[in-house]
Amino acid sequence: MATGTTPPGPDGLPLIGNTHQWARDPCAFRERAADYGRVVGFEIMGWDAYMLTEPGDIEAVLTDEHGRFEKHDESTEQLEEFVGQGLLNSEGELWERQREAIQPAFFMEQIKRYGDIMVDRAEAAVDRLSRGVSVDVQEQMLRTTLEILVECMFGEDIDLEARGLYDAVEAVQEPLQPANQPVTFLVPDWVPVPMRRRAQRAQAHIEREIDDILRERRWSDSDRNDLLAMLLNSDAPMSDQQIRDEMLTFLFAGHETTALTLTYVWDLLSRTPDAEARLHEELDDVLAGRPTVEDVFAFEYTEAVVREAMRLYPAAHEIRRQPVEDVEIGGYTLPEGSLVVLPTWVLHRDERFWDEPEQFRPERWLGDADRPAFAYFPFGGGPRRCIGQQFAMTEAQLVVATMADRVTFEREYDDLELSAAVTLQPKTTVQMRPRFR
Ligand code: HEM
Repeated sequence: MATGTTPPGPDGLPLIGNTHQWARDPCAFRERAADYGRVVGFEIMGWDAYMLTEPGDIEAVLTDEHGRFEKHDESTEQLEEFVGQGLLNSEGELWERQREAIQPAFFMEQIKRYGDIMVDRAEAAVDRLSRGVSVDVQEQMLRTTLEILVECMFGEDIDLEARGLYDAVEAVQEPLQPANQPVTFLVPDWVPVPMRRRAQRAQAHIEREIDDILRERRWSDSDRNDLLAMLLNSDAPMSDQQIRDEMLTFLFAGHETTALTLTYVWDLLSRTPDAEARLHEELDDVLAGRPTVEDVFAFEYTEAVVREAMRLYPAAHEIRRQPVEDVEIGGYTLPEGSLVVLPTWVLHRDERFWDEPEQFRPERWLGDADRPAFAYFPFGGGPRRCIGQQFAMTEAQLVVATMADRVTFEREYDDLELSAAVTLQPKTTVQMRPRFR
């Protein structure tokens, strides 16, 4: 294996390489490609791609060697119009300064204050259900996580509906939905398709609303504990533009990912009565009334349910990087400017690390397991790991506990079809019928 040679990989076509195979089913394509070995070469959308399949190599890219990689150009360009230069999208000194300034807002001490909001909104989600009337569970979870996030960001006095924020957030994300991917990726940006115009108008609306809130708050000296207050009172002063980008980043990175995880939890529980029964047992045992953040520390099975759902269906189904210089891995050169794919989906279902990887078995998370750290990385790793990891884990467990304590869901569809868009999305409408316990 000589350094500099092209790694093995699936055959492609002239000009388009493997783009057609990728576009048809990215999850199946990456699983097949993984059989070629430690470093797999292919070509998508004009990029020379290098997919890594060894946890140790993935760990190196995200941790020890992270300085030799940046976020990939294609992802950052796509994100730029939604979140500007927020934490998810920035690099170098700006990123370092912002990460340090924002980190305290996500310490566990701070997240504990958000517990009540999380439980309140989950209770509201149950209150919206009527016995036997089926609902789109994904839609319900999107609404719930958006309500939680906005209240944690801005406090309770922001009326999402009155400010038109529900509709705007939905419209902004419309081009990213699986059914709209062909238009989003194949029709050039300058073509004014109505969906794009709606998304642009909605984006402008959200930005105006955030600016309004920011202006009001700059002039009031209220003693608040929300995320915005943490940023306004940070030791490193931030411009309004920077705060707005960070708020947009939290909205973009922090509500759909958690909503998807919760949606998958309800789907998987409805297919696995033993797991559901065990979850109920733990809730009956631990909860003394309404769930609290303290209960989260006592949960074992509830946490395992969330972890296992994220193993099978990681909302961030892959992480992309771009080497800023040539990097050697496994005897191959990953050239500067190429696309490096860290395929979360593939590692999470790799038989070397998981018995019966297709099975939903929360039990596998109870007790110690002997597997490499980066066989599982739903929140990434290293300095750029998800800043909202504790927030999301606390939120997911509190929403599952609050809702599962009162209600179960019965599927009205058979198979759950998936689409690996920007995030891993159900193609199927996740229509379910609630039953109160
Ligand atoms: C289940 C829910 C979530 C999942 C699966 C998830 C996943 C991820 C992943 C994989 C990354 C790393 C991306 C990379 O390295 O390229 C990331 C970064 C990030 N996430 Fe999350 N996330 C979740 C929830 C949240 C929440 C609730 C927030 C905020 C409220 C958030 C904010 C961020 C931010 C700001 C970054 C960028 C961090 C940086 O580069 O310094 N995420 N997330």
